[in-house]
Amino acid sequence: MKQVRLGIAGLGTVAQGVLSIIATNGDKIRARSGVELKVTRVASRTLRPEVDLLGADFSQDLSDLIADDVDIVLELIGGEEVAKNLIETALDADKPVVTANKAVIASFGNELLTSNANVPLKFEAAVAGAIPIIQAIQDSLICNDFQQVVGIINGTCNYILTAMEELDQPFATALNNAQELGYAEADPTFDIEGVDAAHKLTILAGLAFDTPFELDHVYVEGITKITAQDIEYAAELGYRIKHVGIAKLAGDGVDKGVEARVHPALIPSNALLANVNDVANAVVVRSDAAGQTLFSGPGAGGMATASSVLGDVVALARSEARVSSDSRTKTRYIDIGEVVCSNYLRIPVRDEPGVFAQVANTMSEHDISIEAAIQKEPIEGSAFVDIVIVTHAITESVMERAVATLREKLGEREASQGDISRIRIETLD
Ligand SMILES: NC(=O)c1ccc[n+]([C@@H]2O[C@H](COP(=O)([O-])OP(=O)(O)OC[C@H]3O[C@@H](n4cnc5c(N)ncnc54)[C@H](OP(=O)(O)O)[C@@H]3O)[C@@H](O)[C@H]2O)c1
Repeated sequence: MKQVRLGIAGLGTVAQGVLSIIATNGDKIRARSGVELKVTRVASRTLRPEVDLLGADFSQDLSDLIADDVDIVLELIGGEEVAKNLIETALDADKPVVTANKAVIASFGNELLTSNANVPLKFEAAVAGAIPIIQAIQDSLICNDFQQVVGIINGTCNYILTAMEELDQPFATALNNAQELGYAEADPTFDIEGVDAAHKLTILAGLAFDTPFELDHVYVEGITKITAQDIEYAAELGYRIKHVGIAKLAGDGVDKGVEARVHPALIPSNALLANVNDVANAVVVRSDAAGQTLFSGPGAGGMATASSVLGDVVALARSEARVSSDSRTKTRYIDIGEVVCSNYLRIPVRDEPGVFAQVANTMSEHDISIEAAIQKEPIEGSAFVDIVIVTHAITESVMERAVATLREKLGEREASQGDISRIRIETLD
């Protein structure tokens, strides 16, 4: 029997989940793994007397965790600077660290993972909560060459888009409900603007394609511009709108590189990811030997996230941890302008002769071919209608130029109302 002494930083949602799982399942963990988990220290800003610390000493000073009676440090405070410093100090002191902090790994993971190569830093809980996607990529599927990793990796966005589609809720109502249910923060910016998903995708892209984490190279778009009309028209065309993170290898020869992007996308309604709803997360991995594998489950929540944190702890205690190394080589990240995909366009135009032709001509001038087009009926009393177009695959920069030309031309004849909405289509082939 091996006793492992834990020092926990933070006493919030995830830390409480960790304490609760140890209290409830500690015996089972010991029987299964031969590891006895003992929390010796907890350090956090505020003591919460209602939380059972399982006999651990409490301190408000995080540096008290770097002590002889702590074998593994659990960083569960979140944020960047303080968390980074704590992880660095622990690794320097030869203490392995487990963190749930995607922001710190996406921004500082490269230096932290190599700062003391003999001491492991594990972060399963940082991506997709309870889903063991890091272990899948780093261990179970390690003998594969990865081609694509696509996921719904932000539960808040997924909840909002599902509520907009299935309950006909406007964006603001769906967001409000997500906040009331505890699925979204009081300040939801990080989630709905795609930043949280970009942190997670940075980690997935780096691990799948053996390249350093490069948050700055991830293209980021949130869900704030998605309207009920877009969702309705997408359904008519056989798609559902999901907020996805996509990391894939693209291009050949010197042009070869990693595409890493986070944005809303039209997904074919019958695709696996199109049917992952509410706060659930899911990641589809495509690789040469295993083919397509789907991982799905709760992407957040105290207990679900703590399950991954403690999975890392037990793996470390059993000495199965992959020792971090700097064996990753820098791979080119493909600029969003070079990405090729089909597009959905919703163009609100004045209902008058010649406007549709102008839209079609503009697409043709930019060598963009149209796969499908719908002209909606005007709403009673309105002089405007929506033209909805699905394009064949086209380079992003060409599409952007075509949309800019269209805006200009329709603006000149005052034929448009509101902005053109463009959403990328991902067939996930
Ligand atoms: N919650 C989830 O579902 C979830 C899912 C996946 C990953 N994560 C990640 O897990 C980590 C923890 O999240 P959480 O939801 O548990 O957060 P939380 O509920 O806000 O808890 C954070 C805890 O850390 C303490 N803390 C924050 N800054 C501190 C500082 N500078 N010094 C000392 N203590 C500090 C807080 O103290 P106060 O009580 O005084 O504020 C609180 O006890 C984050 O990195 C988050 O991204 C969370």
